[in-house]
Amino acid sequence: MAKTAIITGSARGIGAAIALRLAKDGYNIALNDINEGMFENNDIMDKIKALGVECEKFICDVSSHEQCEAMVKAVKERFGTIDCLVNNAGITRDGLMARMPEEQYDLVIAVNQKSVFNMTKFVGNVMMRQKSGKIINLASVAGLYGNPGQINYSASKGAIIAMTKTTAKELGSRGINVNAVAPGFIKTPMTDKLTEEQRNKMLEQIAMKRYGEVEEIAGVVSFLASDDASYVTGQVIEISGGLMM
Ligand code: NAI
Repeated sequence: MAKTAIITGSARGIGAAIALRLAKDGYNIALNDINEGMFENNDIMDKIKALGVECEKFICDVSSHEQCEAMVKAVKERFGTIDCLVNNAGITRDGLMARMPEEQYDLVIAVNQKSVFNMTKFVGNVMMRQKSGKIINLASVAGLYGNPGQINYSASKGAIIAMTKTTAKELGSRGINVNAVAPGFIKTPMTDKLTEEQRNKMLEQIAMKRYGEVEEIAGVVSFLASDDASYVTGQVIEISGGLMM
């Protein structure tokens, strides 16, 4: 039976690039995003199907425990197996801590962090029965080093790193690998929101003096989802062009 990968928040950006790359690697693909609108004027499904694998989209807000449970059940029913989970969905709601409303903090924690608990719990249960699986979490350099104006985002990403290590320890004996990637500054709709000044400041600190491309994240995720990474677990791979060394 062909293997199946589910990638959260995969209508666009890094998630779409990961979905396409895992399809090229031969995985059937379960796409996910928060609403149908994210898939309008968007050819990701066609591009994946053109590669000769199966692809289906599942609408679900990954911050909802209940919706995640239903989605994982639906994916299992549709494809018969879930072999790879990429916890990619994420948002930013930046602002200095002193002026940040409580709801702004809570929303980012729910979407970025609790979603990883929700999805890993339900997909992990499927993988435990299969006695195999690959889980890859999208952390961030903000979770490794902190970033002013991102108390909510950096807290969520730091937690994802701790959750990666915890779940690697809980699931390792069942043949499940859990790793994280920590991207630096990657060109996507998320970073398009930054000002010219913020972008130039970032560029000064990057050894490679350029921003990353979504395919450069997808390539590392592809490795972690492959048999070549069978003895790699609980690790965080920074993909930042040399932001901090
Ligand atoms: P993006 O904003 O382009 O894509 C995120 C996707 O997640 C969107 O399609 C969005 O609709 C979806 N999403 C948001 N909330 C959701 C929810 N509750 N349920 C389901 N889907 C939801 O962002 P990008 O840049 O592609 O980021 C992907 C991941 O990579 C995120 O976790 C982000 O934190 C992380 N990352 C991105 C970096 C960058 O420079 N772009 C740097 C470091 C980490």
